[in-house]
Amino acid sequence: MYMSLTSLVFIIQCFLICSAEHIIHTPRYSDFGTWGNWEYCPSGQFVNGFQLQVEAPRGEFGDDTALNSIRFFCGPVGGFFNHSNFITSRQGYWGSWGQVYACVDNSTAIGIQLRVEKSQGILDDTGANNLRMVCSDRLVHEGDGTIWGKWLTKSLCPRRTALCGLRTLVESWDRSDVLDNDDTALNNADIACCDVPSPAKSCTPKERWEFVAHCDNTVGTETKECEFESKDDTPNYWTDVTRISKTYKDLGMRIEDDYVDLIKTFHEKLGKSKRTGFDWKAFGGSLMSKKAHLKLKAPPGEKQYLYRLLAKCGIYHINSEYFKIFDEELDPSLTSFDY
Ligand SMILES: *[C@@H]1O[C@H](CO)[C@@H](O)[C@H](O)[C@H]1NC(C)=O
Ligand SMILES: *[C@@H]1O[C@H](CO)[C@@H](O)[C@H](O)[C@H]1NC(C)=O
Repeated sequence: MYMSLTSLVFIIQCFLICSAEHIIHTPRYSDFGTWGNWEYCPSGQFVNGFQLQVEAPRGEFGDDTALNSIRFFCGPVGGFFNHSNFITSRQGYWGSWGQVYACVDNSTAIGIQLRVEKSQGILDDTGANNLRMVCSDRLVHEGDGTIWGKWLTKSLCPRRTALCGLRTLVESWDRSDVLDNDDTALNNADIACCDVPSPAKSCTPKERWEFVAHCDNTVGTETKECEFESKDDTPNYWTDVTRISKTYKDLGMRIEDDYVDLIKTFHEKLGKSKRTGFDWKAFGGSLMSKKAHLKLKAPPGEKQYLYRLLAKCGIYHINSEYFKIFDEELDPSLTSFDY
């Protein structure tokens, strides 16, 4: 009737840290055992691989348990695979740890699928037998489990979230009952999906001048006017084509959803830039460029250069609508602007 102190503490903690979490229940197909604790990757990390503890088939008269335990490997999005960074919930007693399976190309896990045998009545039950992991690149990695039962429907994380935790349902070894010679070990696994923070919030903005056009009047005797018109339909924001960028895209991150955060990051981290003079606080949120019409006026004997301010922040690129004209004597600091 009264809530224990530990469960109250858990609820308060959960209120603080679990808010960005989604629990996915896998289909209930075999229900022997007790649920273990929820275990989570370290904060900011997500599952990127797995390993199974499996008991090999014991032959005609043996008591098979099949899948016993599951390890999930953790890492930051786009980070290196770390063989010693893993989590596990309740574990079974039998079998040995098999091969390590990892999401490839910096992708991250977004779901699982279990192979489970339903209750066999008086015959030998095994519960769960095998696991498949679905990665953000949609590749499915199948574990080295056993073959009884059938593949259940996939349990997948919602958009913009990724796999970050698990709890397992495991039947413990019933030592008290000598006649019950039917252990099943692991029966089921539920997963937790955590919000993947937008890289637009945490990236470090960098600026760079890009050459656009020049007005050459080195041999002229009068002032020369050169006109320049930019296209009005080029994107102001885009993402690069690295594997990490692809992983974010696969997870459902779209520039349309994230550019407001990106603008905020530029406002906060650069403000009025000392390096380029551009006030990022004045930078708007238009996704497409407006048409720019610019005139260069090069005096006799001079050459003028038109540059445009570009920026990069993590996987994101920005075209500003800020241009600058430089004289022939290019500001030596100009060439030092880089990514
Ligand atoms: C790998 O994971 C272990 C355990 O969490 C940690 O102590 C270690 O620093 C990690 N190694 C790297 C290279 O991140
Ligand atoms: C994966 O990410 C790491 C760290 O960000 C990077 O150094 C590595 O090149 C990436 N691997 C691939 C295959 O893209």
